[in-house]
Amino acid sequence: MEIKTIKRIAVLTSGGDAPGMNAAIRATVRAGFFYNLEMYGIYRGYEGMIQNDIKKLESKHISHILERGGTILKSARSQEFRTAEGRKQAFENLQKHQIDGLVVIGGDGSLTGAHLFYKEYGIPAIGIPGTIDNDLAGTDLTVGFDTACNTAIEAIDKIRDTATSHDRLFFVEVMGRDAGFIAINAGIGSAAAATLIPEKKMPIERLVERLKARTKAMKQSNIVIVAEGGKSGGAAEIADKIKKQLPYYDIKVTILGHLQRGGAPSSLDRVLASKLGVAAVEGLLNGKYDVMAGVINNKVVYTPIAKAIVGHKEVDEYDFHVVKILST
Ligand code: F6P
Repeated sequence: MEIKTIKRIAVLTSGGDAPGMNAAIRATVRAGFFYNLEMYGIYRGYEGMIQNDIKKLESKHISHILERGGTILKSARSQEFRTAEGRKQAFENLQKHQIDGLVVIGGDGSLTGAHLFYKEYGIPAIGIPGTIDNDLAGTDLTVGFDTACNTAIEAIDKIRDTATSHDRLFFVEVMGRDAGFIAINAGIGSAAAATLIPEKKMPIERLVERLKARTKAMKQSNIVIVAEGGKSGGAAEIADKIKKQLPYYDIKVTILGHLQRGGAPSSLDRVLASKLGVAAVEGLLNGKYDVMAGVINNKVVYTPIAKAIVGHKEVDEYDFHVVKILST
């Protein structure tokens, strides 16, 4: 593949925000400055690319952002970028600013956009996995996942205090759209009575049996983690079903929701985001286009975006095994 000379790189964040996105922006921009490039920020993801909301970035724009949650570039889920006209408009705007390289920080939808855009317009693009869901192949972890798990576990610890005081059964719903990664980690990390994830169906009868067994074993509190979008329904739906079969339980439901998307990034997310920001810029300079920079076994790797977004990263069977053993 021909290596193009790159002088101006634009960076954007797209899709659901994730803690560590700012650290990734900072690392990308700093790496660009290190290699004497001009760096641009595209605001509100692809939406801003279409609306020409593109600004040159200087050092002052990215100072003291590494430790901040959210994204200074803002984010959006652009419907217009899904249309050929939207992408054409976006490309014309990039040309106006003479942008010859693109760093896209986001999840599978955002990287799909980058892949399509590269195929249509040939503008060198590279992805950084930024999503709390951790559902991309080509990286052990996505930026934001670790912080989201920490947030979820901290919240569940607090719920356990009140659950124990009142002898209550709690159903706690965590994020993860179609992926059970946050749920599995939260389940292991908070000693949940059961963990329900989209990837594996757990019949209600089995959950009932599990809860009955725990009552017999005089367990002090019961917390069931439910991943949103689970096959048996969300936390409220499952709680209703359980209430019908175990009416003597005092049941409460907590949906952690967007709480998991905010907050200062953990050290792990800061380091991961920083490595990937540098890797993204160096990748572009070395002719690695239409790929996602990720970390596997602590080494930076570049995976074709088409592979990173294909299907779904599988939940580790061993993790699931650990959940089963520890929640009986
Ligand atoms: O993809 C990240 C994520 O937080 C999912 O876990 C969740 O289902 C979704 O985004 C929520 O999206 P929104 O903020 O647009 O409601």
